[in-house]
Amino acid sequence: MSRPTICIATELEDDLIAQIAAAAEVVHVDPGASLEELIAGLQGVDGAISPTRFNLGEEFFAAVPGLRVVSQHAVGYNNIDIEAATRHGVAVCNTPTVLNAAVADLTMAIIISLARRLWEFEAFSRSGAWARREPLPPLAHEISGKVLGVIGFGRIGREVARRMQAIGMRIIWFDIFEGASTATIDDVADAPYRPLDDLLRESDFVTIHTNLTAESYHLIGARELALMKPSAYIVNTARGPVIDQPALVAALEAGTIAGAGLDVLEAEPPDPDDPIVRLPNVITFPHIGTAAVETRRAMRELAVRNLIAVVSGETPPAIVNPEVLG
Ligand code: GLV
Repeated sequence: MSRPTICIATELEDDLIAQIAAAAEVVHVDPGASLEELIAGLQGVDGAISPTRFNLGEEFFAAVPGLRVVSQHAVGYNNIDIEAATRHGVAVCNTPTVLNAAVADLTMAIIISLARRLWEFEAFSRSGAWARREPLPPLAHEISGKVLGVIGFGRIGREVARRMQAIGMRIIWFDIFEGASTATIDDVADAPYRPLDDLLRESDFVTIHTNLTAESYHLIGARELALMKPSAYIVNTARGPVIDQPALVAALEAGTIAGAGLDVLEAEPPDPDDPIVRLPNVITFPHIGTAAVETRRAMRELAVRNLIAVVSGETPPAIVNPEVLG
């Protein structure tokens, strides 16, 4: 077998580039390149480690006929048309598991911040209002004893459930995968399944951990938000389009729910005038679920292992469409 060629189109540490170079010829495409430049750089290339900012569909895969694997350092792959990749025999690899803890930590921090109104108290202190002896913002709420509804009870959802159980929350969950209601969840005790509507009615906090698919697109819209308690908060650290954002803004403006904590939005970055980043009962973050040094390094390492495995004819540790391996 002749030596494969791998294209590196993201920032990567020298030791990881050396690992790739030990297994393949290396070509580089500037991480800031346009999609056209990426496609040009992928001619005659077997595998690529590529940025997540491009939507890769039929046209892309048809334009890079030699490509056998696209490896991304992200767990989400909603930017890739998996069916098109599979039709063209291209393996799509992602980086699950190594980021569970980081996303769960952030989710926990957002839930605690919302419950304890941390951002309001922090702003009060920072603005000098405390020094001026102005009245404090309204009292916050305890977390212990509150119900957390987890939508998407996979790896990250369960990691969140374990953390929040440890600080006294009661967990209920829903998942869109078929057969969810009868699934045996052996790594989180005392966490009953609920149909989505019941979960929304019962929860004090709703947190979203489902990946973005045609089925989960706008899973939470005006009808679903109307089922939530006026005192309840919604948290999303998964993908923005799982929530119908204009419907969420309307619910937040009308006060039919108490607030939201969002690490992901329908448009990223958002328009600075978008009410979602201006409403007083919302905290938003710039998609930082995995933004920890250790996590990002582990993701890049896994992406490189996936890539080298596929071009070497081995089974990669993480692959979205294993059927292409034959
Ligand atoms: C981050 O959003 C990821 O999909 O890894």
